[in-house]
Amino acid sequence: MTIHDEAPFAMADDGVDPQDVPQRTLSTGATMPAIGLGTFGSDHASPAIVADAVLGAAAVGYRHFDCAAVYANEKSIGVALQKIMAGGIAREELWVTSKLWNDKHAEEDVIPTCKKTLADLQLDYLDMYLIHWPFPNHHAPGVDVHARSSDSQPYIHENYMKSWRQMEKLVEMGLVRHIGTSNMTIPKLELLLRDAAIKPATNQMELHPHFQQPELFEFVRANGIEPVGYSPIGSPNRPERDRTPEDTVDMEDPVIVNIADRLGVHPASVCIKWAVQRGQTPIPFSTKRRNYLSNLQSVVSEPLTAEDMQAIAGIDKNNRLIKGQVFLWKENQDWQDLWDMHGEIVQ
Ligand SMILES: NC(=O)c1ccc[n+]([C@@H]2O[C@H](COP(=O)([O-])OP(=O)(O)OC[C@H]3O[C@@H](n4cnc5c(N)ncnc54)[C@H](OP(=O)(O)O)[C@@H]3O)[C@@H](O)[C@H]2O)c1
Repeated sequence: MTIHDEAPFAMADDGVDPQDVPQRTLSTGATMPAIGLGTFGSDHASPAIVADAVLGAAAVGYRHFDCAAVYANEKSIGVALQKIMAGGIAREELWVTSKLWNDKHAEEDVIPTCKKTLADLQLDYLDMYLIHWPFPNHHAPGVDVHARSSDSQPYIHENYMKSWRQMEKLVEMGLVRHIGTSNMTIPKLELLLRDAAIKPATNQMELHPHFQQPELFEFVRANGIEPVGYSPIGSPNRPERDRTPEDTVDMEDPVIVNIADRLGVHPASVCIKWAVQRGQTPIPFSTKRRNYLSNLQSVVSEPLTAEDMQAIAGIDKNNRLIKGQVFLWKENQDWQDLWDMHGEIVQ
């Protein structure tokens, strides 16, 4: 089934019943499926291929989709979502997230940009809208790691709050049910929590066995924010600009491989099981039916034992993969400056 087929959307016989998928209850009381499908084509999967994956994933039981304007495929995903709903899946059964890109942080841009995403996705409302990065620093899709935009800035809380107020307005207008953050740090979230009228309901952050971010993970949970984990299996096909020689490979870790062998599953499944059992919501990307089906099956099949969970807790390597170099704002800066490593916002 593709978005261009005449054939109507239909549920697959070998899928997972969406009712069996664990759910997260957000601070508002709303429930969100505890696994979603990522839709970032990593500069190599075309919009049509990603949209076909959305369609196929819905057919095997996914109800949560993680989109973003910068992934440049929301129009095609909109066609898939229409087809899914025409096939009998009610809008309320779906959880659709999108994100405000860095070049649209200006007060006057936030609402029109969200409306554009809604038009592209062919939806009346989003379940979740995130500020994609805390910096208004744009980079063109596909640029290399040294690219910088000349007007790049550090995090300026006053400006972030101006964007956030517009995010809050989107909730008041009924265009968005929840708002949230992405790629934040504890010091930045502390300021936002102090000043926000509507607190973030989720924080999207990189999370996989070799990058567990225990402090930020505990901080967001303690503040009633659900952690959503991106690159949950270690983003094996991430763009070249996000690769460095020091990067480690979660799916080749002996602890992960041994558990996978014992359970007779792919190492990716172990990463997904760990994520859901730990309490984050992973959003694995895949365009291959075998893989996205197996990822979803991971959350309804044999769970990891307490010993497995403990063993995986012990393999954190603090190995951030998505370092964000293209968002730096000064010459000769280190990517670590984006992440406030010393507990203070780097200016
Ligand atoms: N907020 C942010 O700044 C941010 C940053 C990065 C990502 N994200 C979101 O998070 C999503 C996921 O992150 P990601 O795409 O970087 O990494 P990921 O989900 O860890 O890895 C995706 C890659 O793994 C492969 N894969 C998936 N399931 C597999 C399986 N069962 N067995 C073997 N290979 C498998 C896929 O290839 P195949 O297609 O061949 O299966 C795909 O290329 C993105 O799509 C995006 O929605 C958000």
